[in-house]
Amino acid sequence: MTGLRINDLKKSFDSTTVLDNISFAVSEGEFCILLGPSGCGKTTILRLIAGLEQQDKGEIYIGEQEVSTLTPKERNIAMVFQSYALYPHLNVYENMSFSLRIKKTPGHEIDAVVKKTADLLDIADLLRRKPKELSGGQRQRVAIGRAIVRNPSLFLFDEPLSNLDAKLRTATRVELAKLHRKLGSTIVYVTHDQTEAMTLGQKIILLNNGIIQQIGTPDDLYGRPANVFVAGFIGSPQMNFIEGSVVVKDEKQFFRSPACTIDISNRPALKDYIGKNIIMGIRPEFLTPDEGPLTARIELVEHLGSETIIYARAAGIGITARILSGFQGREGQDITFSFDNKGIHFFHNGIRIA
Ligand SMILES: Nc1ncnc2c1ncn2[C@@H]1O[C@H](COP(=O)(O)OP(=O)(O)OP(=O)(O)O)[C@@H](O)[C@H]1O
Ligand SMILES: [Mg+2]
Repeated sequence: MTGLRINDLKKSFDSTTVLDNISFAVSEGEFCILLGPSGCGKTTILRLIAGLEQQDKGEIYIGEQEVSTLTPKERNIAMVFQSYALYPHLNVYENMSFSLRIKKTPGHEIDAVVKKTADLLDIADLLRRKPKELSGGQRQRVAIGRAIVRNPSLFLFDEPLSNLDAKLRTATRVELAKLHRKLGSTIVYVTHDQTEAMTLGQKIILLNNGIIQQIGTPDDLYGRPANVFVAGFIGSPQMNFIEGSVVVKDEKQFFRSPACTIDISNRPALKDYIGKNIIMGIRPEFLTPDEGPLTARIELVEHLGSETIIYARAAGIGITARILSGFQGREGQDITFSFDNKGIHFFHNGIRIA
């Protein structure tokens, strides 16, 4: 098993730069997520690592070896795609053993590794079936099995669950997490689904427009977003953003906006921003319907069973709150919110400042 290190990668198609200044490391055995909106460059990064594209600049190390001049085959990487691309005329056993037969691995060895992997993936009783006789989730497990038997130094997954329905998707996600724990493999996993990213990832690399926005644990990205993009991308419903400024009154420091004014004397870092425009961010789960500084008019209440989402408006600004069920308020009523100071973030020119 081996880690991965990417140094200052750049890639353009024609004259358009789609990746720039991409540097990150994945340690041995780590589950690393590439997350970001459609078109941000996730698949291109995987294709560069796999050797299916050539970078314009930068280096890719697998273990200690710089692999840029190696062919895809020489890199010993397994890539699992969104479309499983199984051979339709071969059964599960033959699909899984295909690469080993090409390598002329002895039959009894193939047999042992395919059986062991099939057990691991809970597909041992499907080995004689053709792909068309399998469910989407089973096919995806065969595709993963085919990657595992090759014993690669690195696994690359490109949105492997996106063809599955919601329930199967959750189940397969849990299986993948368990599998990683068992195999201890180094994985780079692409998704634009933040739930997948937050639940599977030990490290998340969040991209936008071909640029890395933040690298960190799920907790880092949720709790200390580096900028407004990260703050808005992670978390559902999205973080509330309220524009305002820092003002001083009676030796106290306040964040003042048309929607609310709050005491921020406990945030010394904000004194450098007195008189400047800043943005306050607060996640919906940190708002509580209670005596507090923010009054808003309720526009819509969504009862989701275990929780309730309140959509409201204060001084023209949309405010979303997520609370436990039992909320009695209705559309058109006014509501006041209190919020935990710890859940508040401040940004200036898009960058987190406190
Ligand atoms: N072969 C190519 N030729 C020209 N442009 C390309 C090529 N491959 C990708 N691109 C462009 O590069 C950008 C990044 O594409 P990429 O497929 O890496 O995005 P992605 O993050 O995987 O998106 P998605 O979530 O939709 O799969 C896009 O703007 C895309 O149009
Ligand atoms: Mg893609």
